[in-house]
Amino acid sequence: MRVLSAESVPIRSSEDVVLARQLVRKKAVALGFGLVDQTKFVTAASELARNTLDYGGGGTARVELVENQSRSGIRVVFEDHGPGIPNIELALTEGYTSGNGMGLGLSGAKKLSHEFEIWSQPGEGTRVSILRWK
Ligand SMILES: Nc1ncnc2c1ncn2[C@@H]1O[C@H](COP(=O)(O)OP(=O)(O)OP(=O)(O)O)[C@@H](O)[C@H]1O
Ligand SMILES: [Mg+2]
Repeated sequence: MRVLSAESVPIRSSEDVVLARQLVRKKAVALGFGLVDQTKFVTAASELARNTLDYGGGGTARVELVENQSRSGIRVVFEDHGPGIPNIELALTEGYTSGNGMGLGLSGAKKLSHEFEIWSQPGEGTRVSILRWK
């Protein structure tokens, strides 16, 4: 896979979450995603941006245009240096929340993406990557 372009934005506030969403939407439109696919991926990105802010204490989102031999796509990588996730499997369980959420953000983001990767280390932080092909 080749990364054709990358743009990083900070996630420090609710306004930044909105800006990150808008950037993902813009890239999805530019790549020719239909409205349904745009909405799926923007929703996934929005959930992860929210987690980065609420649990990670803020971080960054890197929005990349990627391609492989046959397809183009968008990858978004969220990174924070917050407390990390002690049990990733549990965090991915639908309905599990350590706070007051519905516990649907991570599992939802995974379902709405074609590729999903999560790395987290307690005391170091969390990185979650989602990719959707055109
Ligand atoms: N970046 C992160 N840093 C630390 N913990 C995280 C991070 N993202 C998710 N988590 C943990 O994973 C749990 C599940 O996340 P998920 O997004 O699925 O649910 P939620 O945020 O609690 O609720 P919802 O997203 O439905 O409002 C969170 O409650 C939190 O404990
Ligand atoms: Mg969440």
